[in-house]
Amino acid sequence: METRQGDACGKVILFGEHSVVYGYPAIAVPLKNLRITVIAEESDKDLIEEESPEKKEKVQQSLNTARQMLGISQKFRIKLISKIPIGAGLGSSAALNVALLRALKQGITVEKTAEVAYEMEKIYHGTPSGIDTAVSAYEKPIFFIKGQKPEFIAVKPLNIVIANTGDRVPTKKVVAEVREKREKEPEKYDRIMAKMGEISENARKHLEKGNINEIGLLMSQNQKLLEQIGVSSPELDNLISIALENGALGAKLSGAGKGGCIVAIAKDRESAERIKEGLKKHAKETSAEII
Ligand code: PMV
Repeated sequence: METRQGDACGKVILFGEHSVVYGYPAIAVPLKNLRITVIAEESDKDLIEEESPEKKEKVQQSLNTARQMLGISQKFRIKLISKIPIGAGLGSSAALNVALLRALKQGITVEKTAEVAYEMEKIYHGTPSGIDTAVSAYEKPIFFIKGQKPEFIAVKPLNIVIANTGDRVPTKKVVAEVREKREKEPEKYDRIMAKMGEISENARKHLEKGNINEIGLLMSQNQKLLEQIGVSSPELDNLISIALENGALGAKLSGAGKGGCIVAIAKDRESAERIKEGLKKHAKETSAEII
């Protein structure tokens, strides 16, 4: 029986989470060191090697969708080896879907991977914007508008620090809460979302030029808007304050929020290490990355 392997990376959203769901642009970058590997061994029946029954069921549904969309009839024994924390805003489900597709169909194009992974992502997130699956499939910094092909951004090397609160809140739940609030106060929410979109537009230019001070400022402005739509939390706010006190040029939550991770931008590698050290005893996990 043949065994195949697929691999994919996680991501961090630098600008525009939530507003991206409503058609405004957002920016995400791949986390190349944070990866998942899927091993698919041909088998006479499907077998997902996962302890959590809930996750097992989701992976089975993903597998069914992939098989149907790719026209594959073979059954598989599936094993996952992941370094990406689940429900932390680092794109674990998107990476799982991308890696699964690469294991099932060797040589699948990136375009097809992004398209099918987006359908698979609906199993996890209900109404995803597609940003997570796109950045994981292309493994490049992207400027993303829902329903459009992502545009690649030539980001000048950037020192970022990521810290995880350790609280897990499902993206689906947070996105649904924001939708409900927006339905009650459409004007207020659309005004805020439009501002988030403007920040992404602006940030793109600064990322291309490597204007780190401006990028930091825009991240902190984005955070204020995320607070206004109610997706921050005392734990996220605390990590953001610690990052800023330790010299970050800007910081915000990343992903759906209410838990999960923050992302901060640092002046250089040394500063990133200092920020990481400062965050260490207050966060479940921390890492310093160069994008
Ligand atoms: O929490 P994550 O990493 O799945 O990011 C969600 C980003 C949202 O904008 C909140 C939702 C989406 O589908 O884009």
